[in-house]
Amino acid sequence: MRKIEIKTSATCYDSIDALEKEDAFLMNKAIEARAKAYAPYSNFSVGAALLLENGAVVLGNNQENAAYPSGMCAERVAIWKAASEYPTMKVLKLAITASAANATVAKPVGPCGACRQSLLEYEIKQATPFKMLLMGEVGEVIITDSLVSLLPFSFDNTYL
Ligand code: THU
Repeated sequence: MRKIEIKTSATCYDSIDALEKEDAFLMNKAIEARAKAYAPYSNFSVGAALLLENGAVVLGNNQENAAYPSGMCAERVAIWKAASEYPTMKVLKLAITASAANATVAKPVGPCGACRQSLLEYEIKQATPFKMLLMGEVGEVIITDSLVSLLPFSFDNTYL
């Protein structure tokens, strides 16, 4: 028997104002995307902004549905939009922000498990880790250097 230790690390900034210029720019794009979310059922709006290596910024937001499971998270809307429009372009960074109708989201929002799995697919495909910037509506921003650090023991194409 042996114990396996999984270590992960992230950097935490006090607010969007403490970010480097490009990161603050991308987070502001995610805020723009968040404002256009279609979230009439949860009233929880999420915005995502991807920066690609050609400089393109691809936005996404959550799209809900009266048949709840038919809706989609902001991160997957954004990554699939990027992957379908720019299939050979690497993702450098992904910024995420969320707000709720009835309260201020003051802690960073991490992508759900299904989004982590979907994002990981493209990180593996491009063979280059991409940076994740996580924020609520206000307050701290958490930055991770890769998707792998958010999803240990994951399933990937090496099993197939
Ligand atoms: N949501 C996202 O868009 N991204 C996440 O990572 C977590 C949850 C959306 C899905 C749903 O429209 C709403 O937030 C509440 O769960």
